[in-house]
Amino acid sequence: MTPFICPLCQTVFNKVNNTQVCKNNHHFDVAKENYLNLLPVQAKSSKNPGDNKEMMIARRAFLNTGGYLPLAEKVAEISEKYLVNIEQAQVLDLGCGEGYYTQLINQRLKKHRTCGVDISKVAIRYAAKRYQDIDFCVASAYQVPLADESIDLIIRIYAPSKAEELIRLIKKNGYLITVTPAPRHLYQLREVIYENVNAHAEENEAVQGFSKLEQMNLNYKLNIDDKEQLQNLINMTPFAWKFTPEKLTKLLNQSFWDIECDFNIEIFKKN
Ligand SMILES: C[S@@+](CC[C@H](N)C(=O)[O-])C[C@H]1O[C@@H](n2cnc3c(N)ncnc32)[C@H](O)[C@@H]1O
Ligand SMILES: [Zn+2]
Repeated sequence: MTPFICPLCQTVFNKVNNTQVCKNNHHFDVAKENYLNLLPVQAKSSKNPGDNKEMMIARRAFLNTGGYLPLAEKVAEISEKYLVNIEQAQVLDLGCGEGYYTQLINQRLKKHRTCGVDISKVAIRYAAKRYQDIDFCVASAYQVPLADESIDLIIRIYAPSKAEELIRLIKKNGYLITVTPAPRHLYQLREVIYENVNAHAEENEAVQGFSKLEQMNLNYKLNIDDKEQLQNLINMTPFAWKFTPEKLTKLLNQSFWDIECDFNIEIFKKN
């Protein structure tokens, strides 16, 4: 059964053949890759909102090399720790992209259920095709088609959201894990682009309605000796548009690259 609800009237779905139908007879086809597109046309800011295909393909190729595996494992480990006393939790990966973290977390949290939401249709299509036992849908993080207080844990890795929607979705005493860039994240790329590198904020603002339980830093070096891997890392970030051709050529002419990853991981509990 899908955890998602009708985005138009917020009632539950019933599956009839390959269509999800709500109590008020709104119909949503299940795509052949087994995901739902629940983004109302009027909620779209552009024709294809969210990350585009090029970014998504670069991200998948980079993540496949294990470059961010330490982060995925850390988030899975923390999730497992906080859900240990819950019989069957519902977990949401908000802004899940092509599903890399969603899958790793789902594998680790065997007895729990995981779903993923992203506004990028191409990312969700790739996610659903590869990870068939996870529920995915195309929707906005600002208007998530899930019932009030239905989620035990939301994971938000580099994705936008607003506190009101997080409060609405998460059960009382439920959890929120956020991952944001820490000051040294991809420093060796940023120092090529900018004359003066602005450090990312050390600490996030508090999330309204939640109490912070823990904050940790995950820092490690990527030793890259494959030009394609470096290019994928650049292309999956907004840095792709910030290099001048000269600076990019100079960087790519090196034969190896030591690049720091620096993540800020915060765990919150809903009040
Ligand atoms: C930097 S990516 C991170 C993706 C994934 N969490 C990861 O780390 O691989 C940010 C993601 O947020 C999605 N996104 C952007 N705006 C969104 C919105 N309003 N609602 C839901 N997802 C959104 C993008 O499509 C993209 O997949
Ligand atoms: Zn409906």
